[in-house]
Amino acid sequence: MTLLAFETSCDETSVAVVRSGKVLSSVVSSQIKLHEEYGGVVPELAVREHLRNLLPVAHAALREAGVSPGHLDAIAATQGPGLPGALMVGLKAGQGMAFALRKPFIGVHHHEAHLYSPWISGTPPRAGFDRFQPNVSLIVSGGHTLLVHVAAELQHRVLGSTMDDAAGECFDKAGKLMGLAYPAGPEIDRLAEQGNPGAFDFPRPLLNDASDDFSFSGLKTSVRYFLRDHPGLLESPQQIRDLCASIQAAIVEVLVTKTVRAAKRLGVRCVTASGGVTCNRTLRRELAGACARTGLSLHLAEQSLCTDNAAMVGILAERKLIRHPEGDGGDDDIQPGWELE
Ligand code: KG4
Ligand code: ZN
Repeated sequence: MTLLAFETSCDETSVAVVRSGKVLSSVVSSQIKLHEEYGGVVPELAVREHLRNLLPVAHAALREAGVSPGHLDAIAATQGPGLPGALMVGLKAGQGMAFALRKPFIGVHHHEAHLYSPWISGTPPRAGFDRFQPNVSLIVSGGHTLLVHVAAELQHRVLGSTMDDAAGECFDKAGKLMGLAYPAGPEIDRLAEQGNPGAFDFPRPLLNDASDDFSFSGLKTSVRYFLRDHPGLLESPQQIRDLCASIQAAIVEVLVTKTVRAAKRLGVRCVTASGGVTCNRTLRRELAGACARTGLSLHLAEQSLCTDNAAMVGILAERKLIRHPEGDGGDDDIQPGWELE
């Protein structure tokens, strides 16, 4: 089965072609540079960019895959959650194309798609769906922090989520307080490599709480007070590196501890992770170490599939079509506030 998939829920315009669990092409046009000067995603600008980029990106994806529209068996798009105008661009393009080609259309949940990105390829390389195991999955991005129990393919239950800021948002806001450009996560990752994670002590919110929920706004606030109380600190490059490493250590410890604890409690043998923050090298290392110590296997989404992409949308849509060839019969409008169940 060959599918074309669209992803436009936030600030990445992406189109992919997938076939039999493999990604034939995945083209992503990121708008990060456009939104950088505003310190966050500006919805109106995001929509305009999606409209401008969608067709060139779709042409590139088809060309790279060597597939023409006539060879497609189905079309998929992210239906929600996300920015309403942005979602509409990809969803309506996909539905229009399915209508014109008289092929089935599948709308998918953005976070459900993230749950399957570690099985496309990654660590170990090309894990593939034939190696699928029940797992606890961590989704960490600029907009979301979710812990999900994936009991079987297409069967999941949300265990916990953030009560305030997402983990990526915490990286970005802490970085902004330090004068770093948006999004600050990758820069904090880079600076922290030569910093001392034990230099400054920041809170580990909800670390010992019995729930699987997260909270990061208090950590951001403590960075704000710390900088107020240490006014000269940002003049020292080494102290900036130490600060980055210390903030990162607090975020990573909470994410890793709670993920592994949930996996042990539920008796699953596998942990997966995806979302932009999963690009973080310390998070990848610490998760790998904690899983090895507790006998859990770990599947991390490949770096290019951690951030938003249409490949994961197409891969999930194909699994859904295999199980339900008649389609899901769901609502065909955008679902901006769609919560994962
Ligand atoms: O998944 P994503 O591209 O977009 C959504 O938010 O949906 O994630 C972007 C987030 C940003 O907050 C960014 O700072 C963070 O992922 N991020 C990182 C790293 N790379 C991206 N955070 C920490 N370390 C990184 N290496
Ligand atoms: Zn995402």
